[in-house]
Amino acid sequence: MPKVTEILETMDYGPAPEANGEVVKWLKARGAFGHLIGGAFTEPGKTFDVKNPATGEVLARVSQGTPADVQAAVKAARAALPGWSRLAGHERAKWLYALARAVQKRERFLAVLETMDNGKPIRETRDIDVPLVARHFYHHAGWAEMLADEFPGLGPVGVCGQIIPWNFPLLMLAWKIAPALAAGNTVVLKPAEYTPLTALAFAEICAEIGLPKGVVNIVTGDGETGAALVAADVDKIAFTGSTEVGRAIRKATAGTGKKLTLELGGKSPFIVFADADIDGAVEGVVDAIWFNQGQVCCAGSRILVQESIARTFTDRLKARLTKLRVGDPLDKSTDMGALVDPVQLDRVSSLVREGQAQGAILHQATCALPAKGSFFAPGFFTDVAPANVISEVEIFGPVATLTTFRTPDEAVELANNTRYGLAASVWSENINLALDIAGQVKAGVVWVNATNIFDAAAGFGGYRESGFGREGGREGMLAYLAEAPVKAKAEPAPLTPDTAPHPDQPGKGLGIDRTAKLYIGGAQKRPDSGYSYAVVHKGQTVGLAGLGSRKDIRNAVEAAHAAKGWGKATGHNRAQVLYFLAENLSQRAAEFAGRLTSAGIPKAGEEVETAIRRAFWYAAQADKFDGAVHSTKSAHVTLAMPEPYGVMGIACPTDAPLLGFLSLVLPAIAMGNRVIAVPSQNMPLAATDLYQVMETSDLPGGVVNIVTGPRDELAKTLAGHDDVAAVWYVGSPDGARMVETESAGNLKVTWTPANRDWHGPQGQGRDFLIRATQVKNIWVPYGE
Ligand code: NAI
Repeated sequence: MPKVTEILETMDYGPAPEANGEVVKWLKARGAFGHLIGGAFTEPGKTFDVKNPATGEVLARVSQGTPADVQAAVKAARAALPGWSRLAGHERAKWLYALARAVQKRERFLAVLETMDNGKPIRETRDIDVPLVARHFYHHAGWAEMLADEFPGLGPVGVCGQIIPWNFPLLMLAWKIAPALAAGNTVVLKPAEYTPLTALAFAEICAEIGLPKGVVNIVTGDGETGAALVAADVDKIAFTGSTEVGRAIRKATAGTGKKLTLELGGKSPFIVFADADIDGAVEGVVDAIWFNQGQVCCAGSRILVQESIARTFTDRLKARLTKLRVGDPLDKSTDMGALVDPVQLDRVSSLVREGQAQGAILHQATCALPAKGSFFAPGFFTDVAPANVISEVEIFGPVATLTTFRTPDEAVELANNTRYGLAASVWSENINLALDIAGQVKAGVVWVNATNIFDAAAGFGGYRESGFGREGGREGMLAYLAEAPVKAKAEPAPLTPDTAPHPDQPGKGLGIDRTAKLYIGGAQKRPDSGYSYAVVHKGQTVGLAGLGSRKDIRNAVEAAHAAKGWGKATGHNRAQVLYFLAENLSQRAAEFAGRLTSAGIPKAGEEVETAIRRAFWYAAQADKFDGAVHSTKSAHVTLAMPEPYGVMGIACPTDAPLLGFLSLVLPAIAMGNRVIAVPSQNMPLAATDLYQVMETSDLPGGVVNIVTGPRDELAKTLAGHDDVAAVWYVGSPDGARMVETESAGNLKVTWTPANRDWHGPQGQGRDFLIRATQVKNIWVPYGE
């Protein structure tokens, strides 16, 4: 035993282990677990071992869920759905409060179990994870209570399949289950194979409090069980995990009509400016990358430091590294525990070795690691070449890269130089600079002078290949709510584009006078193919439209990217342009109606009138559809800002050629997106007639690009294009499946709604604006 004077000298911590007797007893009593299906545990089936990553010892045996287990669970959830979804919000709220309180009562037990199962320090499970779990259920009890008032017209999605990872096992469960239940859905949840134990403890809680049978079902197992859940008769899949599996799930659900949210990986920048509080930022690195052994999807794994402070910062970081305590996760003074599994340890070790082999220099803690268990000494890399594997690949371990930048512009460029877009952290004492950078970084969550803060009231989720959909707060609730079903309206089959005479001889001999070119970057362009196709009405050729191809789409995407000023324009600026457009259209209403009539479009006058009103409505919304300030942690304001996607592709229905086109294009551009639109294949001239209107309305070139031609082929190119962030497609079920499948490449956001009566209320609304934006949550601290 050291003397107090000695301790004062060394300032060493003595051991302070958390008692785990209760948990050990619980595990011993269970031995092997079945699944929670229809309110009761099944007999264990074929089992696998679940181990403590800090010791390697077997904690329990857990059943490998078979497709039959999954189906039984989905059946139970389906049976429970009518009763649960019809309960008054207030009644569901009471159940969520009961869950919150039950979690709170067992906080210590759940924290210890989580630490033993996952390997993360008890300080984290006790002070962060489990309190957040309780917070989540409380918060969502509130949404259940207010559902009818806050989300009029929306209802539950149905049975939700939820697949979660191992890095925040119980917290991810709460993120998934709480909003689903609040909205009136029932669930089948599959925890990760490495860390199923707290989910099973939660399953016991559900059974204990008497939650109606089948509302929550928990099936354990590995990726095969997960794949069976994706394939099962569920209405929604919510997945958190690797981008690779997310992509596979996107493909597997394409065309099924299953709603999908994906929360995937990241390579989040941690940007430190010269005027930052350096010590604060160094401590931030501890939270950003060494927290949870770096096994955090939003880990600030790319440290970008302004050159002038790089040396100081690196030195202090190295010094801090020597003080990190790595070891027994159950010890209350441990900073870093074990990685989740030897598999993960191998993966991290080999990536780190590869990084070194490719020239990066590793600065690593030299602390003694426990002899047993999946421990990895934390560190960071300097001298990292952009082409080094560790610059791009998510390491998912306690090792960051550190590179430098000179100017704020360079910082933004480096920060955005990734396929991901989950989170970012910006450090500067200059609020103007920090918020300017926060606005420019492409990420779903941005922390200013902070990192890895979460709260149930704020949305969390990514941009780009980090997935889509948000968890938490109002945004997260929307992911578990469905609009009233659209009264689907069959669209006329697309006419086979019939290549007609070369545009050099427009309509010669056909008795027509109209050849529409494509509209790209604010100018009329001949299609790359050199061909037009005949637009036929009742056997008569009424016009010719350019036969667009992949090349034209590529040019249009480029033009749309060049028009990025539109996204930065104020809502007021965009409103003015749209008002102008509405006015110009109304001045030419008769002419437009006449043309539509001559092309055989029914209710042409009405179509033009509705289109004009719609333009006024979206003009009005341009500066009014805005974000929120969430009530989250004390001394923080959390701004939820809807941002445009950037470049969107829009494929329009074959009918309502003017109104269908404008109903989709207007909300997109009102929010600051630039679009490449494929107008009605059967009557594209209604849209190409708009060229002049757009020009006289001062709509900048490149904001709306129109490529006429075979819709599904062009939509395929748009869906597969890496520089298109979102695609809307209204057309056939086959087309919708194709768009969703092709979109898996860069995991772009897709919307493939049914065709509808565009004249009616379902042709316009705030839901279009919600779909045209993604929410960025910016956390700004204030006070001391
Ligand atoms: P993973 O994506 O394979 O596992 C996540 C969950 O998906 C688990 O429950 C797993 O059983 C399930 N799953 C696996 N294959 C599936 C399939 N085909 N269909 C349906 N469900 C399936 O992640 P894994 O292998 O555990 O970790 C690999 C890497 O993924 C990590 O090193 C890290 O880079 C990343 N990752 C990212 C996470 C995040 O929070 N964004 C969480 C976990 C891992």
